[in-house]
Amino acid sequence: MRNTILTILFGITVAFGVLVYFIPQIGTIILLSISGLLSLIAIYDSIQTKHSLLRAFPLVARLRWLFEEERDKIQQYFIEDNLNGTPINREKRSVVYQRAKLQKDTVPFGTQHNVYSKGYEFVKHSLFPKDHHHINGEKVVFGSDKCTQKYESSIINISAMSFGSLSKNAIMALNQGAKMDGFAHNTGEGGISPYHLQGGDLIFQVGTGYFGAGKSVDGKRVFDDAIFKENATRPEVKMIEIKFSQGAKPGHGGILPAKKNTPEIAKIRAVEPGTQVDSPPSHSAFSDFKGMVTFIDKVRNLSGGKPVGIKFCVGNNEEIEEMFKTFSEANNYPDFISVDGGEGGTGAAPLEFTNYIGTPLVEGLVFVNKLLVKYKLKNNIRVIASGKAVDAFDIVKYLALGADAVGMARSFMLSLGCIQARECNLDTCPVGVATQDASLVEALVVEKKNVRVKNYHNKTVAAVKEMTAAMGIESIADIKPSQVYRRRKDEEIVSLEEVYYK
Ligand SMILES: Cc1cc2nc3c(=O)[nH]c(=O)nc-3n(C[C@H](O)[C@H](O)[C@H](O)COP(=O)(O)O)c2cc1C
Repeated sequence: MRNTILTILFGITVAFGVLVYFIPQIGTIILLSISGLLSLIAIYDSIQTKHSLLRAFPLVARLRWLFEEERDKIQQYFIEDNLNGTPINREKRSVVYQRAKLQKDTVPFGTQHNVYSKGYEFVKHSLFPKDHHHINGEKVVFGSDKCTQKYESSIINISAMSFGSLSKNAIMALNQGAKMDGFAHNTGEGGISPYHLQGGDLIFQVGTGYFGAGKSVDGKRVFDDAIFKENATRPEVKMIEIKFSQGAKPGHGGILPAKKNTPEIAKIRAVEPGTQVDSPPSHSAFSDFKGMVTFIDKVRNLSGGKPVGIKFCVGNNEEIEEMFKTFSEANNYPDFISVDGGEGGTGAAPLEFTNYIGTPLVEGLVFVNKLLVKYKLKNNIRVIASGKAVDAFDIVKYLALGADAVGMARSFMLSLGCIQARECNLDTCPVGVATQDASLVEALVVEKKNVRVKNYHNKTVAAVKEMTAAMGIESIADIKPSQVYRRRKDEEIVSLEEVYYK
């Protein structure tokens, strides 16, 4: 489609050029034709009955619609400054592009942040910084005693995003990048596609739709031992993640828009192509925490002893504490917990769920961490935090607050060339990352973008090491909440330990 449009435009331009060169009067003819066309549109606007604004302001009202529709782009390109773009501001987006492309990632002249504003956060450095080349702790071992196949993971991994929400080229580039720098790629709830099998380590996510782990029985999605086992025992799969909720739409199952449900994706998910696929809001394999613990055990056994985790966004605190109580009483628990923040990203979600449901990551992470300590499970269960982590400070802060590793989704999309067009739900992603439109997918060249994924991971881990070294400690694992500070009031700076752990 894109190529056809470009070819037609090129053809028209060349034809006009040739005509004007040989017949100068053609310029007048073209102008007369354009004004004639505009007059016809104006007449149509004034007599049509569907849009009152157009009837009142023929032609001119179309400009308003154009600006309305393109408002986000105009805002992003012409108005946005470095610190106010949402959800990920330009400063953060730029550092991803720079690190992915191995461009200069230093900034001139000084910070653009107002260090005296309420909420400003920073780490305290040492007068005796360490040599960043010798910082360790960039790897974390996942897996309790119940695991026969523990996994040594990077502190930074690609958070869940399915083939379906992302294009096949995006999935391939992510997986190849993960292979190049030795980190893990979460499949998302859409199952494992051939594009995930490029040699990178996988975290196989099992959502409520059980795609790649179940089937439809009487219109209901159910877990199937054999289907799950076939995928979970693949050598690429290093860990399993059972998804309960994600921060962008907690309490709502995944949504695959009809336009993105191609025959290929439908086949992988065993659903009807061209229809919107809504995952159920909750699991059919169990209905309480005791059942959940049994299910975790079963999944671990079926996978051949790989670490099994659960992913959720913190909601009802009493309910979550009940879950930890069950873990403790049964002496049976997941190997890791992925805590997702309400600020998390999505391919498609209802507005109210995105804006008004789900605890933000910092409070959710602290709550989970406190429960791990209270129920003496801190040494047994690893924590992955996800929620708008982009640069090394975000990662250091989440590690300080209790995470062992950080999952990042949108920053890895940016490393693939995502321009935050926010069209993931429309199938029109202009850079081929979050679309199934074949002509747009072609725009993403896997052999170029896989290296960018690798570079971004590599440079970000290096930046975490540099920050750790500046703090005067030798291991990333030793970062504490007492080392990160926040301006709480105009004249008061407090450590995150004081804010959350005292
Ligand atoms: C395009 C897209 C698709 C996603 N798909 C899934 C999914 O299949 N399963 C899931 O648990 N989370 C999914 N997420 C949420 C992310 O895994 C992650 O938890 C969330 O975006 C927070 O990370 P971020 O702020 O680094 O993006 C998706 C996010 C995006 C942007």
